Formats: sequence, structure tokens, C-alpha cells
Amino acid sequence: SKGNHRHYMLKEIYEQPVVVAQTLRSYLRRMEDQVSLPIPDFDLGGIRRVTIVACGTSFYAGMVAKYWFEQFARVPVDIDVASEFRYRAPVMEEGGLMIVISQSGETADTLAALRHARAEGQKIAAVVNVPTSTMAREADLLLPTHAGPEIGVASTKAFTCQLAVLAAFAANLARAKGRLDAKAEKELVRHLAEAPAALNAALAYDESIEGMAHLVASARDVLYLGRGPDYPLALEGALKLKEISYIHAEGYAAGEMKHGPIALIDDQVPVIVLAPSGPLFEKTVSNMQEVQARGGKVVLVSDYDGVQAAGEGCMATITMPKVHPLIAPMVYAVPVQLLAYHVAVAKGTDVDQPRNLAKSVTVE
Ligand code: M6R
Repeated sequence: SKGNHRHYMLKEIYEQPVVVAQTLRSYLRRMEDQVSLPIPDFDLGGIRRVTIVACGTSFYAGMVAKYWFEQFARVPVDIDVASEFRYRAPVMEEGGLMIVISQSGETADTLAALRHARAEGQKIAAVVNVPTSTMAREADLLLPTHAGPEIGVASTKAFTCQLAVLAAFAANLARAKGRLDAKAEKELVRHLAEAPAALNAALAYDESIEGMAHLVASARDVLYLGRGPDYPLALEGALKLKEISYIHAEGYAAGEMKHGPIALIDDQVPVIVLAPSGPLFEKTVSNMQEVQARGGKVVLVSDYDGVQAAGEGCMATITMPKVHPLIAPMVYAVPVQLLAYHVAVAKGTDVDQPRNLAKSVTVE
């Protein structure tokens, strides 16, 4: 049931602190400050390359994870949308692990990619939310998310739970590769364990996001910008908005704007900038200022320090809790979900069952 919520989507957005905590419990051993896997004896040490394949929102979770696998484990990562992967003669060498990511575990394109990789001798890990699904059954290593049933067509809580699993998995791989000492592991565990509280704090901005939804609801086009692990979040924000509000939206890597898309900017195009404080903040802000200099109407999503430093001249700001960069993609998922939700409600669309879409896409 939807409980007190008007839509499943909103209910599922609000469940995130609880389900992410639930998911993390099976991947973190808090007492020992260690990460762990549901199948502890799975041999990770021999993995030399990772190939991530998924669709839609699950693909964006994979894009975030690529940063983590490379940064922590120093393992090369190849990533593709499932519908493209099989048709480009991908090179799959010995020691390769394919990670499929899927809420349903039934998406036809992703399943076909899994089977193709298996036939090519790859080991298969599956990050899925439905433990009885086909992908779960066919994987060597099942990495369940514990998001509970997701009813809304727009994926929300499955995404943040996928990120939680993937961060913990990247840390496990890093440890198996001798790239994560006990101290670094302990810190990583502590940062991950902060995610549920940070998600809760992010949800507290629901009303202020609702209050600014009209600024976006009247637009014809909307852009989302981010850098590093927040670039996939920009793509995710744009997908969410398109799906449920039917407003045309695009996500771009902030630094790519000046290579073309900036030509779209005028005072009719809201630009949502995802810029948590951290190593990439300054660069993202300078891209944001290029947009402002051309009359662009910016909504800056950052933490208190970021909003203080760069909020002036923005059409609106959304202040997130200040979090470690590792969990920022999880936390910043909340405002992009809520913004899409409130814009869709303002437009009166069918939020839980948007037109032309199915929850599980079982045709290729
Ligand atoms: O069940 P899956 O995670 O494999 O589904 C993949 C996509 O179809 C899905 O994420 C879709 O993009 C969502 N409707 C996005 O909100």
C-alpha cells in the first residue's frame, strides 16, 4: 500500500534511509569496520577487468560504480548499456567479471548480455532487487539489494540501494587486490554507514523542493549538469524528469557544456547543477558561471558551504547535508527524484504509471 503517501514513487523515495540501511547491513560488518560479501569465499583476487552492463537508471548506478572500481581497486572498467553491448563485439578476456545491474532481474537486454558474456567465459555478478529473478539465478555471485518491492515505474530506492551494494563491492574487490589497508577500509565503512542518516537529512528538503517545482514545471527543456560521480546523477535527474513529467531534459558532464550544449542556454532553460563541495566543486562552479553569463537560470544543488560560495545569482538553491564524496551520489539522488516528482505532480501526469512505459522491459 501507499500508506500516507499520494503515490508509490513518493513512498519509495521516503523509504530510502531504511532500505539503504537494510542493504548495507549485509555488506558491512560494522563491529569489525570491514566490508563483506554475501558469498564470502567468492574469489575476487583473480579479477583483472570488470564489464558493467545495465539499462536506464541501473546503468547510471553502474556509471557511478565505475569511478569506485577504478579509484579503490584500480581495476579497469568497461561499461555499456545492455542493448549496445552485444552488438559491438566486446573483448572479453580471461579474468573478466561482468556485473549486471537490474532492479527487476528480468530486463531482456541485460539478460541477453549476461548470457553472451557467460558464453564468452566471463564470471557473472548480478546486483538485483528481485532475488528469485532470472538474473539472480543465472549469476555466479548474487549481490542482492534489499530495497523491497518497487512499484513506481520510475526507479528510486532501487537506485540508491544499487549504489550502496556497488560501493561495498568495489571496496571488497580493492581489499582482495591488496589495495585497501585496514585503516582505509575502516574509513570507507564509516562513510558508507553515514548514508542512511544523510538520506534522511536530504529528505527534509522535500517541502522547499516542492516550493520551487513550478520554476521547472513551466519549462520546455531542462538541463542537468554534474562532474565525476555526479555526472551520472545529472543523467539520472534528466531521465527521471523526462519519464514522469514529459518535459524534455538532458544531462551533461558540466565540462562538456562549452563544446556545444551551451548554445541551448537562454532564460527559458532551467539548468540544474549538482555540485557537492569537494575536489570537483570549483570546476563545476566555473561551468555553472559560463551558463549564468549567457542568461541561464540555474538551480544549484550543493551543501551549505557550496551554496554560500556560489549560490548568488542562481534562480534557486537546494541545500543538501554536507557529506563525504563517496556517498554524495546517493544523497544527491534524493533532490533529483523529489524535483521530478513534484514537477510531475504539478503537471498532473500519472506519476506511478507514466505513458508508454512498463516497469519491467522484457523485450529486446
Ligand atoms: O529492472 P531494471 O533495473 O533492469 O530496469 C532498467 C530500466 O528499464 C529502468 O531503470 C528504467 O530506466 C526506469 N523506469 C528508470 O526510472
